Amino acid sequence: MPSALPASPADTSTTTTLVHAPSARTSEWWRSAVIYQIYPRSFADASGDGIGDLPGITGRLKHLARLGVDAVWLSPFYRSPQHDAGYDVADYRDVDPLFGTLDDFDEMLTKAHALDIRVIVDLVPNHTSTEHVWFGQALAAAAGSPDRARYIFRDGKGPDGAEPPNTWTSVFGGPAWTRITDPDGSPGQWYLHLFDETQPDLDWDNPEVRTEFEQVLRFWLDRGVDGFRVDVAHGMVKAEGLPDWTGTSSMIDGAHEGTSGSEDGSTGAGNQGPMWDQEGVHEIYRSWHQVLAEYDGDRCLVAEAWVEPLSRLARYVRPDEMHQAFNFSFLTTLWDARALRSVVNASLEANDEVGAPTTWVLSNHDVVRHASRLGLEVPGSKPNGIGEGDPQPDEELGLRRARAATLLMLGLPGSAYLYQGEELGLPEHTSLADDERQDPTWWRSEHTERGRDGCRVPLPWSAEEPGYGFSPTGSTWLSQPDSFARYALDVQRGTPGSTYEVYRSALRLRREFSLGTGSLAWVDGLPADAESTVLAFVNREVLVVTNFGPGTLRLPADLELLHASQDLPLAEDDAVLVPADTTVWARLRA
Ligand code: NOJ
Repeated sequence: MPSALPASPADTSTTTTLVHAPSARTSEWWRSAVIYQIYPRSFADASGDGIGDLPGITGRLKHLARLGVDAVWLSPFYRSPQHDAGYDVADYRDVDPLFGTLDDFDEMLTKAHALDIRVIVDLVPNHTSTEHVWFGQALAAAAGSPDRARYIFRDGKGPDGAEPPNTWTSVFGGPAWTRITDPDGSPGQWYLHLFDETQPDLDWDNPEVRTEFEQVLRFWLDRGVDGFRVDVAHGMVKAEGLPDWTGTSSMIDGAHEGTSGSEDGSTGAGNQGPMWDQEGVHEIYRSWHQVLAEYDGDRCLVAEAWVEPLSRLARYVRPDEMHQAFNFSFLTTLWDARALRSVVNASLEANDEVGAPTTWVLSNHDVVRHASRLGLEVPGSKPNGIGEGDPQPDEELGLRRARAATLLMLGLPGSAYLYQGEELGLPEHTSLADDERQDPTWWRSEHTERGRDGCRVPLPWSAEEPGYGFSPTGSTWLSQPDSFARYALDVQRGTPGSTYEVYRSALRLRREFSLGTGSLAWVDGLPADAESTVLAFVNREVLVVTNFGPGTLRLPADLELLHASQDLPLAEDDAVLVPADTTVWARLRA
């Protein structure tokens, strides 16, 4: 049992329960790294066209070094018609002119490495763009030809083949099949797309597809990248015969049959669809593991897999497969002490079993920002976008809880992901005009789901400049809310108590106390009033306490306060008071 927790003060009897010992494996950087997600369209624009780009990123790397992150993950910047913001790749070996050139990429990578920041790039292997050369060849070729066999083309059902080959629906809404017109103008076969119709699924049973992606991995490894985030890692292999399935799938949650999320983030039904989490995907990752192992420097693979339960997700990070998997069960857990404790336990247990680090994440480019989710009536619930007319989050309360949630997360052992702008406390843009929306979800769901544009709004760097300093021309591809003036980096930098400074101190302390490779022992019995719920644990010598309220928690006086997500009220004696929706880090006084 770690000894950090206060020998309990006389008026309480605390108990500690160890659930995760300090990691013996500490040499690989990714086991404990804090990784910052850059969404290139919206990070920083150097060219002035209103869309972020690689030179924009290079120009702002110092911000990330100062913040104290270990690595960045870049969402796709490859050649793409941008029907799904770059997750529709037309050429895996080139940079889209929107974002710059390969030389710009190399320059960014060199500068990042010089600042001790590693770089992970996005790999999108489940589908290409319809503008990929392979898809053009498939359309021009005959049914049954090798050119078609790189994708999943099938004849339609019914006498004239006018019905789709099966009942699957797209994750973005609408059918998962589109019928093509043959070169002679007659209606032809159908192709599968689990996402937009501009994103045809590849056939991973085809050895040519496998060889091609191994070469793509090598192309970027040779350039010096430190790893890959693998898009839809649980979707590449489909069940034999493509059997009918009428369930729906939604981003981040495991595919489900219409059940609603439970408090530990599990959707209950798990991934039952014949397109998800098939055994065959693991062979692919074993072969990629070998490719990466040929390179020096602990290169890594990160799975984006919406798989439940966590024990199932852990199969992606067995010792000879990927290195990390995003913990979406944590992200989708409600703001509730009991539910969070249970998902943290399940996460550590599942990953410890296979010797992989657990990851933690609260926001990314596919979900409503956690500063807004936590201000909703059901805090932490996950609507697919928020617009005018929808119930609006409480901005102040949401930010307060978001800061508490982030300090809780950064106190946990393992690796943590941050999404650009959360270090500023950015809320979701919840009043974006519907005619500005670009996410295909919005129109594919027939305007029932607003989708993800609200978390993708260009970042505010300086309060006084047009476009809040995002671009030299002031232009931004999505409009920014007026409230961004309050959140701009320049008004937060150096301002004690700002969200940015809270993040920065947290990252510094996390490093100083080696929390990433640390331990977790729950602490029960802290003196809280009867109505309040509290989550408390010790990681190495640091006590992390989150008070979910509604009352105030009083910590024993023999604790030294290290950090807090909010300014704390002063007690008459020396005690540390923790108000509702606040996290503190403390340790025993020397
Ligand atoms: C997951 C990505 O995060 C999301 O943005 C994208 O739309 C889908 N995969 C399809 O590539």
